[in-house]
Amino acid sequence: ARITLRQLLDHAAEHGYGVPAFNINNMEQGLAIMEAAAAVDAPVILQASRGARSYANDIMLANMIDALDQMYPHIPLCMHQDHGNEEATCATAIKYGFTSVMMDGSLKADAKSAADYEYNVDITRRVVDMAHWVGASVEGELGVLGSLEHGGGEQEDGHGIEGPVSHDQLLTDPDQAVDFVRATKVDALAIAMGTSHGAYKFSRKPDGDILAMKVVEEIHRRLPNTHLVMHGSSSVPQHLQDEFNKFGGEMPQTWGVPVEEIVRGIKHGVRKVNIDTDCRLAMTAVFRKVAASNKSEFDPRKFLKPAMDAMRDLCRERFEQFGTAGNA
Ligand code: G3H
Ligand code: 13P
Ligand code: NA
Ligand code: ZN
Repeated sequence: ARITLRQLLDHAAEHGYGVPAFNINNMEQGLAIMEAAAAVDAPVILQASRGARSYANDIMLANMIDALDQMYPHIPLCMHQDHGNEEATCATAIKYGFTSVMMDGSLKADAKSAADYEYNVDITRRVVDMAHWVGASVEGELGVLGSLEHGGGEQEDGHGIEGPVSHDQLLTDPDQAVDFVRATKVDALAIAMGTSHGAYKFSRKPDGDILAMKVVEEIHRRLPNTHLVMHGSSSVPQHLQDEFNKFGGEMPQTWGVPVEEIVRGIKHGVRKVNIDTDCRLAMTAVFRKVAASNKSEFDPRKFLKPAMDAMRDLCRERFEQFGTAGNA
């Protein structure tokens, strides 16, 4: 049954668990996530990026979510817009049945200029007003996702920030977080602690210098009732990198966010954990394996079914690790 992000994260906070938010672009990913959730009795956050909406089409996505909801009526399901970039994106998502939207007013931010902060507050507050009129939830974002390790941020569109950027320009400032939540009334707040999107987050297993979980703890201390969101939270498991490379892939050695760091975050207010890359890698590693080991195969189902199974297993693992299992 459809549920808002606020309802789900309130329950998660009360019971001390986190919820993975998996990105969805197609039927196979939807089936994999729901199958995993049903197997362990976990509530679900499905999220679609703007890219997913244009890939699948809004009508297709909306009907797919309805279908998944009908197939698994006992699983609480939140449908969320990932990284909405303007008010219209959020409004049209809600029109298509999304129960939650992210207004990412940090996408425009260069660093921490006062003008960018004001822009973020203003547009996020307008989206909160609009969404709350019709009973949808809103996630805002404060801070810049990007590598601390490389001494500079990357804009979330992948372009580098001009000039040197210091650690504290990338990390979310706790004082500003307090002000932002008060001013916008967001239901959940995405914060920056050194993660970035995609597979190439860290060139070594991250320590506290490049993955600043202390920032999460400090913000939670200041905002104990705010649901925190971690983006860029794929772990990029070694076994999936190995599998991908074993069958002709060329992925340079990389490190993601260790699951134990996410679990530490969940102890300090993190309630929504965004994961896309791990799901992509789980599926495409299987495509490579099938293609390499059965060169005469041309039935797409012979690729997609084992790929779905691999993604299902990964999702199930995260539901169990984050304590989501058993809370449907
Ligand atoms: O924000 C990043 C998510 O992984 C979505 O990626 O924009 O390629 O669909 P995408
Ligand atoms: P990953 O690239 O680490 O999976 O992050 C996904 C994300 O943050 C989507 O908003
Ligand atoms: Na999001
Ligand atoms: Zn993200």
